[in-house]
Amino acid sequence: MKVRKLTGTIGAELSEVSLAGCSAETAKAVQEALFEHGVVVLRDQNLSHEDHIAFAEHWGQIDVNRFFTPVPDFPQIAEVRTTPDQKTVIGGGWHTDHSYDPAPAMASILVARDLPAFGGDTCFASQTAAYDRLSPGLKETLENLSAWHSDGSFATGDPELKVRRDNTGVASLHPVVIRHPQTGQKALYVNGDFTTHFDGWSVDESAPLLQYLYRYCTQPAFCCRVSYAPCTVVIWDNRLVQHYAVADYQGQARLMNRITVEGQPLTA
Ligand SMILES: [Fe+2]
Repeated sequence: MKVRKLTGTIGAELSEVSLAGCSAETAKAVQEALFEHGVVVLRDQNLSHEDHIAFAEHWGQIDVNRFFTPVPDFPQIAEVRTTPDQKTVIGGGWHTDHSYDPAPAMASILVARDLPAFGGDTCFASQTAAYDRLSPGLKETLENLSAWHSDGSFATGDPELKVRRDNTGVASLHPVVIRHPQTGQKALYVNGDFTTHFDGWSVDESAPLLQYLYRYCTQPAFCCRVSYAPCTVVIWDNRLVQHYAVADYQGQARLMNRITVEGQPLTA
């Protein structure tokens, strides 16, 4: 397997590796690259739905998303579908998948199925790089905070609404600075789609610092941008990166298949 870094801070393209029917050793090597780079891109992968599931199961249990329509006959695989008449795009805000769950998803494994003629890239931002470059003073403040994450924006069925203030859906509390469960790297863990407020602070009190962190932690120096081609597979670690689906292909259809692999409760 060859590894080519996409930027100095985040992302790598893996080549000379095939995920379909791969061995446990290969799956482990891909996972190690994922933990090092936060997001990995694999081109020209011929993955059937069965292959997609089999690869994910090398890493753990599949976390079935309760908000997406599944692929017919494959409940483990979510369809991330945009239709030509849709005005907003799912994922069109910086976020980490499933951060509202008590044990947020470890990895998301996305397979490109039908692509628009242009557009529809995904941006990723390294939250380990973001943490590393904070001042010692703000690091110390954030390390003593936890924040609530809520699925309210999905539960309302209104994708225009990014954050609900009244927590009617599932809400979970996580440290603002987490340690990656496998590597121990520290990462910033708040996101604009699901984080509502710091524990012990009001929503209004939390908003200025959260807004600052959202701007700070998604600046270009921490980011890479991935363009899809047919048979591209992109895998990201939800504890290490945030992602953003670029909504620049209105009027065109796009279909991706996504499997999320279960994670574990996050600790400081
Ligand atoms: Fe997402």
